[in-house]
Amino acid sequence: MTNTANVAKGLEGVLFTESKLTFINGTEGILTHLGIPIQEWAEHSTFEELSLALLDGKLPTAAELAAFDAELKANRAVPQALLDVIAAMPRGVHPMQALRTAVSYLGLLDPQAEETSEDARRAISIRMIAQFSTIIAAVNRAQEGQDIVAPRMDLTHAGNFLYMLTGKEPTEEQARLFDIALVLHADHGMNASTFTAIATASTLSDMYSCITSAVGALKGPLHGGANEAVMDMLDEVGTPEKAEAYISGKLDRKEKIMGVGHRVYKYFDPRSRVLRDYAELVANKEGKSTYYQILETIEKTVVDRIGSKGIYPNVDFYSGTVYSDLGIRKEYFTPIFALARISGWCASVIEYTRDNRLLRPDAVYTGERDGKYVPLQDRQ
Ligand code: ACO
Repeated sequence: MTNTANVAKGLEGVLFTESKLTFINGTEGILTHLGIPIQEWAEHSTFEELSLALLDGKLPTAAELAAFDAELKANRAVPQALLDVIAAMPRGVHPMQALRTAVSYLGLLDPQAEETSEDARRAISIRMIAQFSTIIAAVNRAQEGQDIVAPRMDLTHAGNFLYMLTGKEPTEEQARLFDIALVLHADHGMNASTFTAIATASTLSDMYSCITSAVGALKGPLHGGANEAVMDMLDEVGTPEKAEAYISGKLDRKEKIMGVGHRVYKYFDPRSRVLRDYAELVANKEGKSTYYQILETIEKTVVDRIGSKGIYPNVDFYSGTVYSDLGIRKEYFTPIFALARISGWCASVIEYTRDNRLLRPDAVYTGERDGKYVPLQDRQ
């Protein structure tokens, strides 16, 4: 019999499908894609390679990767009609709102949008992986009242994004650092936005609908929006000396600290360690930024006070400082998350729909059982 004791609140621990893409061991802080540790992907690979590996479920050969890279480049430009819509968006909207609308609109312009065969889903995925970058950069430029910058074909995916965003060609080091951030965010198992994409796909809906839903799920502050919320927190703290008292006060009031805690990781999120190492590298070279010093104190205070509850920094804790060092405004941190996670969303939808079953969970009914319809005029 179903009763409230059987409810898996937040679907915690519920296994609804099989996947060969990503493995996470939250107690030991392990994350692998295709069995390969995230640290190795970050060190040796690129966003392009990981995206293809996730789509195909295997490491590509050099020829396959070169063909994929060429296909991504060939698809970087978006239709002018979409750029016109982006340019006409009201000023001051959140870029995640803009991205959600742009993805949905892109679907209107794609003659293949309604096709749901695996080949069609894959072809659309490659276009979306390529074009998220152009869309997000165009939104930034349009919102800032600047000319939209056309993509360049001689730059990497990461380098071209930074170029389109700022209008300036990044250094090799900046492009590589950003590439690593994309690699770290490309996939993460059955997180809320991937699950949302799959739930939409399970109805046999089209790719653009799946990804539009996923963008909406990623937008919230408990998921992708946390990296922006971390920067808001750092701005609120102001100086490193105030960090400990600020965090202690929040914890005393039972308020959540952004960028820490995770449904799966009960120890350090391995992605946060890679990002911390890079943030440290920058700090050692250029001196510790105020943000970095505040984060150090927050990390220590959080681990001391609630580490025993399994609350440790997650990937969003350090990503903001890395982006901020690259000159990216905080409103763009969550869109950048989407820029990376698009690969995981697409690969997961393709994998799930190979053996599709409609997702349709249930709720324990706790409402009235013998309600009577009272005519409107007789109600109190
Ligand atoms: N700060 C302080 N305490 C926390 C935090 C936090 N960030 N996260 C969890 N806790 C505490 C809760 O208060 C609760 O304590 P209690 O048992 O004494 O009541 C306990 O830890 C369990 O918390 P839940 O919220 O039930 O854990 P859940 O698994 O639902 O939460 C979540 C996961 C939503 C990520 C949560 O840790 C959180 O809100 N973190 C802040 C937002 C954030 O950084 N999100 C990004 C996640 S990573 C990503 O999406 C890429």
